[in-house]
Amino acid sequence: MYTRSSLFVFLLGLTIGVIWIQAGTQQPITETCLVCMCQALSGCNDTAVCVNGACGIFRITWDQWVDSGRFTIEGDSPLTESSFTNCANDPICAANTLQSYMVKYGQDCNDDETEDCYDYGAIHYMGPFNCKADMPYSYESVFRRCLRDALRAEKRQKAN
Ligand SMILES: *[C@@H]1O[C@H](CO)[C@@H](O)[C@H](O)[C@H]1NC(C)=O
Repeated sequence: MYTRSSLFVFLLGLTIGVIWIQAGTQQPITETCLVCMCQALSGCNDTAVCVNGACGIFRITWDQWVDSGRFTIEGDSPLTESSFTNCANDPICAANTLQSYMVKYGQDCNDDETEDCYDYGAIHYMGPFNCKADMPYSYESVFRRCLRDALRAEKRQKAN
């Protein structure tokens, strides 16, 4: 289970990295941040699923999808209902949706004078107008641990 999800995260990272280089558009959320968001939200389980209307590895909602500009996977129309679930269940389309959402709503929620991953995690989970509230413990603990581990891994890599 762990190995499968690590492999997936690695592949997701690779693909998103390639897309970033190609797109050249505003991408405020780092790759590490995207991975930690999906870890906290779904364990990065890429089985196509909606939970209370929130779909895919990032548990994106219809409202977020519309607000972000209705990204679609290739061949889908932005006007079709199923395009939302198709996009939310596609890691790249879902990541692009979140990027666009944060371009629009990114802000310093925790008043630490930077707009970073903690803010994006809060905005995505609690909404742009409620992002100063405390994150639910179960979400926050996985999210923070993931970011801490990623930071350690980066430091180890630099040291080598
Ligand atoms: C992924 O999610 C599906 C659907 O919710 C579930 O059936 C499956 O057991 C999950 N896989 C893992 C590895 O947790």
